[in-house]
Amino acid sequence: MTHASDTRPTTLWVNSGQQTLPAHSHNTSLLLFLREHCLSTGTKEGCGSGDCGACTVILRDLKTGNTQSVNSCITPALAARGQQVVTIEGVGSIDAPHPVQSAMVSEHGSQCGFCTPGFVMSMVAEQLSAPTLAERTRADDVRAISGNLCRCTGYRPILTAARQANEVVATSNRPPEQWLPNIDAAVDRDESADGTASYCMPTTEQELQALLKRSLNANTNPLIAGTTDLWLQVSQNYVDFESVVDITRIESLRAIDTTRDALTIGACATHGELLSFFTTSGSDCPAIAEILLRFGSPQIRNRGTIGGNLAGGSPIADWPPLLMALDAHLTLTNSSGMSRQIRVADFFKDYRRTELRTDEYIARIHLPSIDEDAYRTLRAYKISKREEDDISSVMAAFDVRMQGEAVSHCRIAYGGIAATPIRLESLEQSLLGRALTNANIESACEQLRSTIKPLTDVRASADYRRAMSASLLKRALLDARGTPVARLDHPT
Ligand SMILES: Cc1cc2nc3c(=O)[nH]c(=O)nc-3n(C[C@H](O)[C@H](O)[C@H](O)COP(=O)(O)OP(=O)(O)OC[C@H]3O[C@@H](n4cnc5c(N)ncnc54)[C@H](O)[C@@H]3O)c2cc1C
Ligand code: FES
Ligand code: FES
Repeated sequence: MTHASDTRPTTLWVNSGQQTLPAHSHNTSLLLFLREHCLSTGTKEGCGSGDCGACTVILRDLKTGNTQSVNSCITPALAARGQQVVTIEGVGSIDAPHPVQSAMVSEHGSQCGFCTPGFVMSMVAEQLSAPTLAERTRADDVRAISGNLCRCTGYRPILTAARQANEVVATSNRPPEQWLPNIDAAVDRDESADGTASYCMPTTEQELQALLKRSLNANTNPLIAGTTDLWLQVSQNYVDFESVVDITRIESLRAIDTTRDALTIGACATHGELLSFFTTSGSDCPAIAEILLRFGSPQIRNRGTIGGNLAGGSPIADWPPLLMALDAHLTLTNSSGMSRQIRVADFFKDYRRTELRTDEYIARIHLPSIDEDAYRTLRAYKISKREEDDISSVMAAFDVRMQGEAVSHCRIAYGGIAATPIRLESLEQSLLGRALTNANIESACEQLRSTIKPLTDVRASADYRRAMSASLLKRALLDARGTPVARLDHPT
């Protein structure tokens, strides 16, 4: 178990030096630590909620060398233990700028400059993670900066700068990682233990279960995973937790296992890891990949986890409809190590309330074998105000299959049309065995419109959600019938 105590300081690597995080820092965000303790003020605070990308930094794992961009405003500073934090100050200097920095200057990619460090860090992170830099398309570059907002320059010069910098790095004899600041390669993770920790990082489920026996109050001593949801309580509502249990270092909760009979995903697998999995030949699922490509931003996908998406209990989370349409089950494990299984379709009780008991955690998600047809027949549609980095107004997933003229298999699940994500089993029953004539499709849409009770909130009105959910059902049924509606691709 690794503990970071509130009783003594902790050392973190920032660029090429070590910095001390004071005692009592379990509620300190990485952004606050960088700006106020390290005086690395190049990293900016815009929204403080993961939406603008001004605070983007890169974390490099000291053991594996893996790098990822994160929003430092919603990342706890102590989550960076065992990693090198690379900030805008670390990727170049006035005398020797990084190619991305040079290109942002030459292409006029910056005006007021507030967003610029965040854009630069996202572009550098993309160069580090993209295997074939020279072959990258404009759409790839758009995706790389989809978690960054600029209010004054406009995105064309920024994208031109990205393209130019990628060419410079791809044709140089210096690989992308050699542009990052060097630190002593022999450095290991700080694994020092302390029994009075207030920021605990168990490394096994047994350690987690022992911690759950001690602290059972989700409001004052919560479990945390990627913190892309929970840390907004700290950054927006100034909540002070008594202690937190960070479960992201438990390897068994990160594993993605494929066997002949099932696919099992650990609750701490990130959306980024799952996007790689579902776009790899042999385990590809176009419907899931399409939703994950629009899930938050690269920074959010790098930290957010599938377990956190479910446990948060949001009615507009993207994973629940996908998992319900695949009839997935969850393993919930308690502080005594006892496990129970529950269908995802039965997990959500009421608005932001789930079946999780106070001493339980989501351990694993169980899906059909990756060889099953379901991954090819699944259809999923997300409606949001913005193409990327936006939470759904309505989200729906369908697995509708035909035998001859009749529907032979039907699963339909929605988010955003009730207080919880829901599977529509009575609608499924009424479609089974039916031909998908225009009249039957219209009657299914009418059944949907008349039974659902959508919410009105800042994202959409109840009327809009009712209309959109019927449109998505019609689209899925026309598609299943083999007469898909024409699709308008977004210009990039
Ligand atoms: C800018 C932005 C964009 C976003 N875009 C999307 C989007 O497009 N689609 C979408 O669905 N969501 C989106 N989200 C919401 C969020 O990123 C996701 O819900 C994410 O999956 C939460 O996972 P996490 O690991 O960060 O959870 P955390 O924030 O760490 O935790 C969330 C809750 O789950 C609990 N928890 C976490 N893991 C477990 C576990 N294994 N067992 C029990 N309890 C657990 C925590 O105690 C907490 O209550 C977005 C958020 C932001 C800030
Ligand atoms: S400050 Fe806006 S994403 Fe962090
Ligand atoms: S240059 Fe001003 S916000 Fe982007």
